[in-house]
Amino acid sequence: MPFIVFEGLDGAGLTTQSQLLKKRLEGLGYRVYLTKEPTDGIVGSIIRAYLRREIFFDRSALPLLFATDRVIHSKKIEKLLKSGVVVISDRYKLSSFAYQFEFGVEWIKTINKKAIDPDITFVLDVPPSVALERIKRSRFYLEAFENIETLEKVRENYLKLAREFPNTYVVDANRRIEDVSRDVFEILKNSGLIKIG
Ligand code: TYD
Repeated sequence: MPFIVFEGLDGAGLTTQSQLLKKRLEGLGYRVYLTKEPTDGIVGSIIRAYLRREIFFDRSALPLLFATDRVIHSKKIEKLLKSGVVVISDRYKLSSFAYQFEFGVEWIKTINKKAIDPDITFVLDVPPSVALERIKRSRFYLEAFENIETLEKVRENYLKLAREFPNTYVVDANRRIEDVSRDVFEILKNSGLIKIG
């Protein structure tokens, strides 16, 4: 079964689009497991605490934590795919390349090697100002990375990565939810990863 990933800036609509795609696929009779990174596991919890600035450690440890969380996550994903379940993840490897870019692509690649690659990735693209506006509307505090300069850089990284990584599609997410969702589904259909009818 296919492993599908949504990527993009916080506030780009990753959670909404993951849920909508899950519903559509279930409507076609697929069993679908929705998941996200950082995970709810023990390593994911450490990452979240750091992002909320509740705990502190040297930031060079962060890519390692993301990779650890991912390797553990990836084993679970592999099992699900083998048992006939479609897996949709809200963030995965590409997030580490886009956000932890200061540590260099090669190192990020190396520490993520033990985690499987997705079959298809959707990069939901919105201008950082739109992303920040949506975040501020949904919660009262801002996490690490959630400032305009960082988000500009992260967006630029995503657009570049989308050209370099296979099966990675940029979708304009500064539009109505239904329009974005329809485009995502069209791309997925055309990819041949799912069978319809
Ligand atoms: P987010 O997806 O917004 O989760 P929540 O809605 O629960 O706060 O937060 C995850 C943050 O972590 C986001 O800013 C991107 C960042 N991140 C990385 O920097 N590297 C990674 O590898 C991953 C998976 C996420």
